[in-house]
Amino acid sequence: MRYDQPMSDPISSKPQLASSTGGLPSAVGWSQLLLTDRLRPGDAVVDATAGNGHDTLFLASLVGPQGRVWAFDVQEAAVLETRRRLAEAGFGETCAVIHAGHETMRQKLPEAFHGRLRGIMFNLGYLPGSDKSIITRTETTLQAVASALDLLADGGLLTVAVYPGHDGGADEQRQIAEWAASLPSRRYEVQLFRPINRSASPPECWVVWKRPV
Ligand SMILES: C[S@@+](CC[C@H](N)C(=O)[O-])C[C@H]1O[C@@H](n2cnc3c(N)ncnc32)[C@H](O)[C@@H]1O
Repeated sequence: MRYDQPMSDPISSKPQLASSTGGLPSAVGWSQLLLTDRLRPGDAVVDATAGNGHDTLFLASLVGPQGRVWAFDVQEAAVLETRRRLAEAGFGETCAVIHAGHETMRQKLPEAFHGRLRGIMFNLGYLPGSDKSIITRTETTLQAVASALDLLADGGLLTVAVYPGHDGGADEQRQIAEWAASLPSRRYEVQLFRPINRSASPPECWVVWKRPV
């Protein structure tokens, strides 16, 4: 969906960015909403956690055939599924799906694109329906988000969907929150989207906008 398209489905009148229950957007829904608003055809972007390729395809659709997409995952099955999904949708040529951790992003991306990325999306945790022991780890996540900010263009957007409910997730959430709060406000604007009246540890979405200097 592009920004200039209607934000609701005229037939069901259900907002397109509602959660599955019709409520407010999920953590990933917020990421997608904000990236949809800002990405344009031809932009260069990264999906830092490819998984089943849904987010990679979402990004590829926004930046179109003139755009560039790099996606990372440590699981071979995720890489293969993402490549399959992209090829099926006709984006096989414009997207590179890299079988490596996102902490290697700086080394893997061509130098010409350093500081030129318009959007970088993290969807942390484990891949639903697969081995739950393969999860993002706080140490490498922190390395990766720091690299991501360096690689981002002025005016670019970083989104991080965080899931505190699984083993290790609460620590990752705490450290992401500390890192985000430490970012200098003259260079970065940071916002957090999260449900506040649920008793469980709800997923949350961090968004960092890199201010133009
Ligand atoms: C919540 S899933 C991502 C869902 C995905 N974006 C989608 O649209 O299906 C998290 C993914 O992060 C991957 N992952 C774990 N550690 C990683 C790392 N260091 N670098 C890149 N991906 C990693 C997992 O293998 C898993 O596929």
